[in-house]
Amino acid sequence: MNLDLLTYAGNAANLSAIEGGGRHELVRGDICDAELVASLLRTRQPRAVVHFAAESHVDRSIVSPGEFIRTNVQGTFVLIEETRKYWSGLGDAERARFRFLHVSTDEVYGTLGPEDTAFCETTAYAPNSPYAASKASSDHLVRAYHHTFGLPVLTTNCSNNYGPFQFPEKLIPLMILNALEGKPLPVYGDGKNVRDWLFVEDHCAAIRTVLERGRVGETYNIGGNSERANLEVVTAICNLVDEVRPGTGVAPRRELIRFVEDRPGHDRRYAIDASKIMRELDWRPAEQFESGLRKTVRWYVDNVDWVNSVRTGAYRDWITRNYAERTAL
Ligand code: TYD
Repeated sequence: MNLDLLTYAGNAANLSAIEGGGRHELVRGDICDAELVASLLRTRQPRAVVHFAAESHVDRSIVSPGEFIRTNVQGTFVLIEETRKYWSGLGDAERARFRFLHVSTDEVYGTLGPEDTAFCETTAYAPNSPYAASKASSDHLVRAYHHTFGLPVLTTNCSNNYGPFQFPEKLIPLMILNALEGKPLPVYGDGKNVRDWLFVEDHCAAIRTVLERGRVGETYNIGGNSERANLEVVTAICNLVDEVRPGTGVAPRRELIRFVEDRPGHDRRYAIDASKIMRELDWRPAEQFESGLRKTVRWYVDNVDWVNSVRTGAYRDWITRNYAERTAL
């Protein structure tokens, strides 16, 4: 059962592959609605809650931080508090088996210099954006519910996800679509900010692994072992788009790259040390960045209807708001 408010980045059609088998249910609703959450827990009797719900786009958290506090902080509080009440009424065996898995981000750890060692689970929290601060806050709540109430929680902190179905406000899908359409490719600052890229299916496999075998109360960092500077990522996208859509008069696409005004407080580098989940739970990423990126470009080329359906008026307003006033560098 998915509980999803289906706000701008949500899309019921993303679930069409699992529709119709009678084993999945989508409920449209808000994790901040305590009565709804309580009644769903009471009537569906889940064995686990996997908490993916979040506002996650840093640029939006700079423009409207309040929504991040509401969904990420208040929403996590309501979900975990209602879960605690439900869990405390279960029988001993069910209570012991129950899990609350909280999906979080590497951004809670702040930023790294070029020579710093990668983030590990004991790195001190130092969030730099309203988004990162809201996720750090939710991580602390989850930790506290374990220590205070004994709720069997697990937390995962992942690096930047990419792959099919990603809303085209994030770097990779935005650049793929702009490159396909011959539009400018807005790279913030000098393009040397580094992210670690995790293919979405590797992330899903890691979450499943932690849910099945993770030690209660522990946190696990999940990374793709693929650190790349933004300019490298955008150039690789240009080359792949040139390959799949040659001869349309705009190639080479890398000529579309424009360096634009930086994001305020832009973290320089994220890197994940995923050795704990590898060692303890025997998970590792299966996808190489180059092959994952190729699959992702292919997916956006092949799914024009999906792309058109998510690029609503509200999406176009966001693109204007975020990019129109960014001066070229
Ligand atoms: P993003 O996908 O927003 O993820 P995050 O900020 O959580 O890492 O951005 C990834 C990187 O790409 C980040 O360093 C900001 C940069 N970026 C651009 O240079 N241009 C863009 O238009 C966007 C959306 C991001």
